[in-house]
Amino acid sequence: MGTERENWSTRFGFLMAAAGSAVGLGNIWRFPYLAGANGGGAFLLIYLGFVFFIGATVMLAEFTVGRMTQKSAVGAYKSVSRNWTFAGIIGVLSAFLIMGFYPVVGGWATAYIFKSVTGLLSEPSAIPSTFGAFISDPVRPLAWMFLYMLFNIVIVIRGVGKGIETASKVLMPMLILLLFSVAGYGMTLPGAIEGFRFLFVPDFSAVTARTFLAALGQAFFSLSLGMGCMVTYGSYLAKDTKLASSAAIVTTMDTLFAITAGVAIFPALFAFGMEPTEGPGLVFVVVPQIFAQMGFIGPVLSMIFFIALMIVALTSSVSLLEVVVAYLIDEKNWTRRKAVITTSIVMLVFCTLASLSLGIWSDWTIPVLGVGFFDFFDILTDKVFLAIGGMLIAIFTGFRLKKEDLKREITNEGTVPFAIFELWYFLLKYVTPIAIGFVAFFGARAAAQPALMVFGFSFIAVLALFSKKL
Ligand code: PHE
Repeated sequence: MGTERENWSTRFGFLMAAAGSAVGLGNIWRFPYLAGANGGGAFLLIYLGFVFFIGATVMLAEFTVGRMTQKSAVGAYKSVSRNWTFAGIIGVLSAFLIMGFYPVVGGWATAYIFKSVTGLLSEPSAIPSTFGAFISDPVRPLAWMFLYMLFNIVIVIRGVGKGIETASKVLMPMLILLLFSVAGYGMTLPGAIEGFRFLFVPDFSAVTARTFLAALGQAFFSLSLGMGCMVTYGSYLAKDTKLASSAAIVTTMDTLFAITAGVAIFPALFAFGMEPTEGPGLVFVVVPQIFAQMGFIGPVLSMIFFIALMIVALTSSVSLLEVVVAYLIDEKNWTRRKAVITTSIVMLVFCTLASLSLGIWSDWTIPVLGVGFFDFFDILTDKVFLAIGGMLIAIFTGFRLKKEDLKREITNEGTVPFAIFELWYFLLKYVTPIAIGFVAFFGARAAAQPALMVFGFSFIAVLALFSKKL
């Protein structure tokens, strides 16, 4: 066809898009409740270890593979070896599954922008029950999810440069401002110090194999790794963009956002005498409650907070949608429009199942697996697919690609230095696969949903066996 592959127009645009993908509900909705449920400081410490030793390593590998092959998730593997196609397919599947619950939460955030200024805060004691009633309603969350999904469709249909890059460049800086002001306010509250202690002083007594798996899954989820997303974004990179520093910047930004979200939530939470173990409702229940105590400025700050939450979710979900869309364009020759619309319809069906599983179907679970759809999508991707996907990209890059080729790609043909290449290569080839193997094995053994873990691993094994036919 001879058409040039789309490119990011500037490095800044790429960084905003990649950081936009990484920074998301994972940082602001998920990280605080996971940290809350897993003991705070100890979780943070383990999480940081995974982020910097494994996450940053895998991110650089994904950028490199994407730019080297100029292909998205599946094509990148396939162009090297058909035996590896399955690893790309797991990525595309993960994108579908994550998009099976992400827009549900994105829809909640959108709804809470309006709820913040229409009386939600006037009766603080009713906030938890309002959230419960809202997410279990058979119609309202679906309507908001639909609206949220529409935003995604509009952005991704416009393509990489005009859509994703432009949106990220405007939205990311805005978000930084918003989140910092909320965190800044929280820090000034009396009693806030307890929250700092909870978040930053590790207490290892609650740490188990489960904690490690939760932290590893969260690291991959939050950095958008292990499913071809950063491979896809890397494939749109210009040859002169610096890969290693880009990976370092994105990793650091993502981590700062998670910590800032923690600082926005925990000090205020303790200042108002609430419990950190709230679960997935943490942001939607505790944050409005905090704002409700602030008088007339509360509703405005709350609205700002949920706009920020919606924005970060959006720049992430467009990247998830893009993984599937790029696959269909690259491998199946679909038009962008057809790919976006078809993919979104399937995702909307998944999301509908996920949303209803929290309401009218909350008593029903998938036979044998013992979880509802929301948890099925969430747990399967986060605790199995992303970790294994990260392990596979590490093994693939470390063992299937040539060391010299990698070095040439990362150093832009020797024009930019990468002093720690050997260390990176070692971390990638040996440390990452072995560490993930350990954590996945012992974590899955100790998991609360053993049947689902077995299902996930077997699914990957079967895919791998039939990979040549894919
Ligand atoms: N990183 C995103 C977040 O933290 C979620 C995501 C996962 C996006 C995987 C793309 C790929 O919310």
